[in-house]
Formats: sequence, C-alpha cells, structure tokens
Amino acid sequence: MDLTTEKPYLTGHYTSVADEITATELTVEGTLPPELTGRLIRNGHNPKPGVTPTHWFKGSGMVHGIRLREGRAEWYRNRWVHTPALDGAPYMTEHGPDLTASVAGTHVIEHAGRLLALCEANLPYEITADLDTVGAYDFDGKLSSVMTAHPKTDPVTGELHFFGSSPFPPFLIYHVADAKGQLVQSAEIPGATAALKHDFAITRNHVVFIEGSVTFDPNEHSGIPYGWNDQQPARIGVMPRGPEGPASIRWFSIEPGNMLHAANAYEDGQGRIVLEGPTVDREGFRLSWNWWVGAPGRGTEPNARSYTRRWMIDLTAGTVDEQIIDDLAVEFPTLNEDYLGREHRYQYAIAFPDEKGFGAYGLVKYDRTTGARRVRPVGDARLPSEAVFVPAAGATREDDGYLLTVVSDLKQEASQLLVLDASGLDQIAAVHLPRRVTAGIHGSWIPDDELRH
Ligand SMILES: [Fe+2]
Repeated sequence: MDLTTEKPYLTGHYTSVADEITATELTVEGTLPPELTGRLIRNGHNPKPGVTPTHWFKGSGMVHGIRLREGRAEWYRNRWVHTPALDGAPYMTEHGPDLTASVAGTHVIEHAGRLLALCEANLPYEITADLDTVGAYDFDGKLSSVMTAHPKTDPVTGELHFFGSSPFPPFLIYHVADAKGQLVQSAEIPGATAALKHDFAITRNHVVFIEGSVTFDPNEHSGIPYGWNDQQPARIGVMPRGPEGPASIRWFSIEPGNMLHAANAYEDGQGRIVLEGPTVDREGFRLSWNWWVGAPGRGTEPNARSYTRRWMIDLTAGTVDEQIIDDLAVEFPTLNEDYLGREHRYQYAIAFPDEKGFGAYGLVKYDRTTGARRVRPVGDARLPSEAVFVPAAGATREDDGYLLTVVSDLKQEASQLLVLDASGLDQIAAVHLPRRVTAGIHGSWIPDDELRH
C-alpha cells in the first residue's frame, strides 16, 4: 500500500458507499425501548465514486438515517445532500463564495421542526424526514453569513444560538433564532480574528467563543485555508447573552492549542465560567491535519493527542486557570443536552487508540462528581460513531437514558446501531444495518414530536 497517495479518509472505516439505498424492517437483537420513536440521523463525508477530495472535509455530505418506532427498526436509508457541490459546483466564483455550494457533511440538527444539514463554510441545507434535500435555508432571507455546524439549543428557552466564522472580515457574526425559528439577533463580534472557530459554547448567561492557534493560512492548498500559527494568540471570548452582549465581550489569553469541540460550559457556584473540551497541541494538530489531507507524516487516526482540557474563567479577577484533566485521547464529546449550558455530571466521548491512554476505540463515560471514568471497548476492528444521548421517558436522573452509536465493523463488513443504557453502558439492543455505514462526523436523535409533519 502506498501511504504517500492513499487517502485515509477513503479507506477502512471511512470507505465511501457508492449509492443511495432504502432498507425496511431491520433485524433487531435485544429489545428496542418503545419510547425510542424517531430518527437517528448522522452525517459524514462520502464523495461520489471516482471523486478524490483534497481534504476529508471537502467530501460530499451523506446522511444516514435509522427510523425507530415503538420497538421496531422500520428503515435505514442513506442520501447524499443534493447541493450544487455534489455536482461539482465550485465554492469560489467570480462573484465571491457561493454559500449554497456546500458539501453539507458535518452535522444534522433540528430546530423549530426543520432538519438542517450543516457545514461551517456555507448556509445550512434543509432536508426532509425521509432525508431528501429541500434546498439551502437562509432563515427567510435573514441569514447572510455562513453558519457553524455546531449551533446550540438552549434547553430552557428553545433558542438556537450560532455563529458564522470567516477567515476574512467580518471574522465572526453571532446569531440567535427564537424557538419558532425566527432569526432575532445577528451581530458582529468585536475583537475576533481569522482564527478557526469550529465550535463554541453557551451558558445560562454567557456566550463563549474559542480562538486557538489555528488560523487563516494562504499557503495551505488543500482547499481549506487554515494552519497552525505560533504567532496567533489563543483566546477565549466571553460575552453576556442578549442584544447588549457583543459590545462588552472580553477576550482572555489561554495557552496555545486547538479545540475542535466544546464538551459543555456553565457558570459554577462562584460565578466562574467553566469550559471543557478535547484540545490538541501543535504536534497533535499536525498529525491530525495530515490525516485529514492524506499527507505523509500523518497519524493513524483523524484526531491525535486530543486530551480534555478544562478552563475556569474568573470574570471578576480577570484570570483563566486551565489544565488537562484526563489522559485518554478522546473526541466527539456529548452529554444529556438538557444540561447544555448548565453544570453537568455526566460526560460521554469516543476514545481513540493512543499510546498515552487506551489502546483501542471505545465509548467513555465520565462522572464529573466522583471523578470515575468508565471505558466500554467496542471490539476489534470496530469503530463507534459519536454517542448521542436520548433521555428515557420520565427520566429523573441525568444519565437515565440511552446512548445511540453506529458501529462500523470491518471484519464483518457490516454496521449496527447500538442502543446502550447510558447509566452502565450495557447494550440493550442492536439494529443490524443492511451494509457497512461509512464512519462519519456528527448526528442527532430527532424524536417524532419535534418534526413539522
Ligand atoms: Fe464538529
């Protein structure tokens, strides 16, 4: 195998599927809780046959959906998000970027009954509950910036907080859509730079932006113009929520690094902002980026040396304490999203093979109160996807619910949807999918009562 030309994001667990299929009445092992009535929709990059993207994230987006209803697994289907980019339309045109030319391959969310496939350099793409593409969605003409792939739904107000980030001014625009889906706030954020901003966080009272050491790099030719830069100051920006917030944002210096995903943020009992998420150092970023572009000298995994970091920001003293709090290489942090922006006890993530911690893929559960960590291996040559938490009906405990993960199994050339008890990580049910599902990025559980029709 020629490692200088083989693209890791097109091989092994990441091998694309060649077509769109629909399969019904799937085989279920164990018992599916009847309350799991809805859809797990997961997004990822799956270029068309014969297409070799120059960057993992440039591959066309494909959504995979598994429809569960009252104990049955009614269907699996996969569909490309049918955008102009799928047919080869360029992002950069003579009139500037075409925000509709999205691969739409990073995430899928629901807001105000609408399903949106997201990619951070573009407008969102609306899809139907059967995964067909509706078209680019711009909040009735009100959204003129790109939209992050990691918007945050406030569990109390139902508002959707998000941002658009660009390597060119204006670097950062913050938006809020109300619970009914109306875009009610859009504001430029003072002091932001061209630093890569993939994710952010909200608390009850604040919005938290993260600018790490990765920023615009005009010499990067993979099609995604970012790179590590020691001269780029790493910072956290904290601003109050509400219309007056942007004018009073404060930026705090932090140690060099890059955080792709925020696990959560909240105000602690002393009013400090606590933020956690896996971060990489310069070498971790180099190994990861080289994997993402298929370059020599890469790591063996799409994320390398990504260890969870905690920042504690004292707004009164104007200080930040930060430390790495775990030795497992993890990514795809998730939680019970009823606790988003609030102090949470339980944190979930995917562990990746790493010489410092765990030597295989696994699902991890952290108890932040006791400090306990439980790792559930998933078996040889098996890779789990981001574990999506679904609360149990009538749940009274934070971890009373289920974790849903799609496992790619190379030995069997197959995939299963695993339903785990989030409390003990025991398997409750497995849904056998009709073929191996390409390993991907993010997804959501969409209960039936959140859909428009
Ligand atoms: Fe992401």
